[in-house]
Amino acid sequence: MMRRFFAPLLALGLVLAGNAQAQDTLSPLHFQSDGPLGGIDKAAAQRGFLVYQTVCAACHAASALHYRDLEALGLTSDQAAGVAAGVKLADGSAATLDSPFKAPAMPASAFGGAVPPDLSSIAAQRPGGAQYIYALLTGYTTAPDGVTMLPGHFYNKAFPGGQVAMPPVLRDNAVTYADGTPATQSQEAADVAEFLTWAADPNLGTRHQIGLRAVIFFTLLSIVAIAARRGGGG
Ligand code: HEC
Repeated sequence: MMRRFFAPLLALGLVLAGNAQAQDTLSPLHFQSDGPLGGIDKAAAQRGFLVYQTVCAACHAASALHYRDLEALGLTSDQAAGVAAGVKLADGSAATLDSPFKAPAMPASAFGGAVPPDLSSIAAQRPGGAQYIYALLTGYTTAPDGVTMLPGHFYNKAFPGGQVAMPPVLRDNAVTYADGTPATQSQEAADVAEFLTWAADPNLGTRHQIGLRAVIFFTLLSIVAIAARRGGGG
């Protein structure tokens, strides 16, 4: 008797656990993309795009992304076209929905040979993903005693080796959020980490929805199977 109900209860528990997690958005350190049933927090990712566009795009490319992709992030076609129209390409023309995100013209020597990597899929390429990006952007501190800094480097406790050529770029109110969210440094870091997680896998939200549907489907299937067994006298 107990055994018959165990599987559907377990499945239902998974669904409820997933929903509970998705609602916990209070801490900037909690990324909705974490966890098996998570999804991208599109509001956060849209704020993160603003941070990317205003701050990160000065040094980093994200060439796998096109302005049209912003529609998948929840912008209307007109809004995405508006973003593109505001970007001036190297030849002086405005970007369109079909243009890849504009890459900055960065001389190779700008950071003593350290190259700002393309951020299109950095969240997938670095262990820790969003958590690492958040930790990196908020990890600048004074170097511990005894550490000799390389020229043009900054101490960062999240960066492997501790010395990074990227200067600290986020500060409170580096951007102004249209949705009224206070733009603290840590909020900006969390939002851009969410944006880059979305960028690394624009289908993430859809895939998680499919996962959730699969859990619901198998829950129903087990209930049907139990009913069938009972009906059959088993
Ligand atoms: C002033 C230029 C500049 C800006 C602005 C900038 N970066 Fe960087 N970034 C760099 C450089 C240079 C590196 C390479 C650092 C190194 O290898 O030491 C880098 C590296 C990185 C890395 C890779 C670190 C690793 O593990 O190798 C990430 C992630 C990153 N930046 C994210 C961001 C984000 C997100 C923003 C916007 C909030 C941003 N950067 C803004 C210059 C910049």
